[in-house]
Amino acid sequence: MTEPRPIRFFHQGRLQSITGLPPTTTVLQYLREHARCAGTKEGCAEGDCGACTVLVGELDADGRAVGLRNVNACIQFLPMLDGKALFTVEDLGGSTDLNPVQQALVDCHGSQCGFCTPGFAMTMQAIYERHQACGTRPERQALADDLAGNLCRCTGYRPILDAGERMFDAPPRTIDRAPIVEALRVLAEDPPLHYEAPSRTGSPQRVFAPRSIDGFAALREAMPQARLVAGATDVGLWVNKQHRELGDVILTGCVEEMRRIDTIAGQDAAGGNGSTLRIGASVTLEDAWSALTERVPSLRELWLRFASPPVRHAGTLGGNIANGSPIGDGAPALIALGARIVLRRGATRRTLPLEAFYLDYMKNALEPGEFVEALEVPTPPPGTRLRGYKLAKRYDSDISAVCAVLSLRLEDGVVRDARFAFGGMAAIVKRAAKAEAVVTGRAWDEAASIAAAAALKDDFKPMTDLRASASYRERTAANLIRRFWLETRANAPVAAGSASVWQAVNLHRSVA
Ligand SMILES: Cc1cc2nc3c(=O)[nH]c(=O)nc-3n(C[C@H](O)[C@H](O)[C@H](O)COP(=O)(O)OP(=O)(O)OC[C@H]3O[C@@H](n4cnc5c(N)ncnc54)[C@H](O)[C@@H]3O)c2cc1C
Ligand code: FES
Ligand code: FES
Repeated sequence: MTEPRPIRFFHQGRLQSITGLPPTTTVLQYLREHARCAGTKEGCAEGDCGACTVLVGELDADGRAVGLRNVNACIQFLPMLDGKALFTVEDLGGSTDLNPVQQALVDCHGSQCGFCTPGFAMTMQAIYERHQACGTRPERQALADDLAGNLCRCTGYRPILDAGERMFDAPPRTIDRAPIVEALRVLAEDPPLHYEAPSRTGSPQRVFAPRSIDGFAALREAMPQARLVAGATDVGLWVNKQHRELGDVILTGCVEEMRRIDTIAGQDAAGGNGSTLRIGASVTLEDAWSALTERVPSLRELWLRFASPPVRHAGTLGGNIANGSPIGDGAPALIALGARIVLRRGATRRTLPLEAFYLDYMKNALEPGEFVEALEVPTPPPGTRLRGYKLAKRYDSDISAVCAVLSLRLEDGVVRDARFAFGGMAAIVKRAAKAEAVVTGRAWDEAASIAAAAALKDDFKPMTDLRASASYRERTAANLIRRFWLETRANAPVAAGSASVWQAVNLHRSVA
């Protein structure tokens, strides 16, 4: 075990060195209460409103360039910044020297009370940096998707979107990366983080951030009681809202092997020539969904509706799967795709079908000292029809009432394999075994879809909660199977997306 050392990161043009602060101090608390950078605001303290948006920069794998991503400072713990760069609204232009993002917000009247504005400016800066790097401009809809994690109560989104377009009209002015690269290279020479300080309630608390997978596995085995923290988009809320103590913490985010997406040739589910995506547990949700939807484009809407970009930039696929919420959206997609989960303790690995990982409400198959190393997702075999549907009270950035990912493999119109995975219908994300059995081996026709929808009653006894009633869940889940048939039938399939909210919005616009 290495000696304890300070948390070190690049902020305001220099290397910062932090000791003595509780390990679960959030980046937002650090900014407002210790660094006296009060431009970053606190709205919800749970990743929902975007008022606290900051940019975090990291060196790429070969140590040559810095990627900047917008995240919610309210649910990032300070030790997670170790080795990285932090940018806030104070790093944009000053009051007499507005940068293109700020100037466009002014020119387009994109701010009224101004409380949300620093958060918007930071997300817009992230968009600006990304597009300037490749010489592109976002479509208006892409801007709206990128801003889905920033809420504004009083200005209205039209002027903000106008500003998002206008900011590209000014002469380019991006964040200078050279000093950041230099600073991050210095930080990369530090030993892996081992930080010790009294917790928020005064108990001793330690944080470790191993960098090699073998070091991580050994530490996890030696400290089975420690709390693993990946992106903290779930755990951050336990601390902020439930005031839970985490005890010792092991961060997963510095293990390079767990942040990789690899393609393994020749291992598809049907034993064909397809390949398998091996997604390391610490790959961010954004990168994981991007890789998944490249192979399975019909999951794109589920990707865009999974939380919001700042949450997806911090949160990981492994965290989502390990957390195992019955209303999580990652598990239905991966189970329908026939994914396997790779668990590791010390040097020993075991691989399970993902559906076998979930045992009961918030209980999974992890043994003490074990962790999720990766998820293996086979390429859907030829003949597969797959759709993902999310029902929630709000279109953007909301938790599912019901999430259904439905997959069929057809041969000559006959169902050879069915995988219907549902979230929100039981204590765990689960396959609809009865509905799958009803359709397997028969023609995929309307009668089959009606029979499958009816069989769901024997698969699930959903509950009523604040998101939806049991009867709403039963009815809509059955309807989603009917919709799946309409979208995948051989004759005149209904276009995917024709039932989307955007279709209704566009129809309304064209009528108006
Ligand atoms: C505003 C907001 C919106 C959200 N919207 C959605 C949504 O639409 N859909 C959805 O599904 N979720 C949503 N979430 C939940 C959350 O973002 C996801 O569950 C996320 O993937 C969690 O990943 P993380 O890396 O942040 O996990 P963490 O919070 O770091 O950890 C979560 C759990 O996983 C464990 N863990 C992490 N990594 C490992 C590992 N490698 N091995 C074993 N255990 C591990 C941790 O110990 C902890 O128990 C939302 C959250 C917020 C704040
Ligand atoms: S304060 Fe609302 S997202 Fe952080
Ligand atoms: S300007 Fe008031 S909340 Fe956006």
